[in-house]
Amino acid sequence: MPHSSRTYAMRYAPATDEHAGAIHNVLQTTIRAIYPKYYPQTVVDFFCNLHCLEHVREGIASGNMGVALDDAGNVVGTGCYDDNHITGVYVHPAFQGRGCGTLIIDRLEEKIAADYDVACIDASLSAACLYERRGYKTVGHGVIEFDDGVKLVYEKMEKQLR
Ligand SMILES: CC(C)(COP(=O)(O)OP(=O)(O)OC[C@H]1O[C@@H](n2cnc3c(N)ncnc32)[C@H](O)[C@@H]1OP(=O)(O)O)[C@@H](O)C(=O)NCCC(=O)NCCS
Repeated sequence: MPHSSRTYAMRYAPATDEHAGAIHNVLQTTIRAIYPKYYPQTVVDFFCNLHCLEHVREGIASGNMGVALDDAGNVVGTGCYDDNHITGVYVHPAFQGRGCGTLIIDRLEEKIAADYDVACIDASLSAACLYERRGYKTVGHGVIEFDDGVKLVYEKMEKQLR
């Protein structure tokens, strides 16, 4: 069941090839605007590279990527999953705080719940509180070490879906 009964101003749709450029733009804009508040530049660059256009196209091809669209059909957010892992949820900064992220996560959880009892996420610091409020629990931590000595510690979170 959806997490919230809020009325959404946006609609969610499966991502198609024609969305690739707009999804990439949302990802890069959001990461460059939000992540420097939480992470050093090395980590910001890591996430920008992780969400390159090639990876966006792979996500679309998997059939597991979705977009949040405004009334005019513009891509304002995106989300993707792989098996029972939510692999990314990003909402353009100009559209955050309106329920768009909630809409995307609701849809991803619905997809995952069709086949799995538990949803997993490697949560960014910018989203850990949101996931916690949705019922996700921290079950461990992961660490990525970069060549310049920077370390990215992230929370592994899980939610029982049924
Ligand atoms: C995390 C992220 C996806 C959330 O997207 P969002 O569209 O802002 O999410 P929502 O609007 O659904 O919820 C955000 C907050 O707005 C509140 N909100 C939702 N709808 C609202 C509405 N109509 N009016 C006022 N507030 C609202 C929610 O309660 C939530 O509050 P909380 O953080 O205290 O729980 C977005 O902030 C983002 O892209 N961040 C950077 C990237 C990132 O961290 N991604 C996660 C990777 S794991």
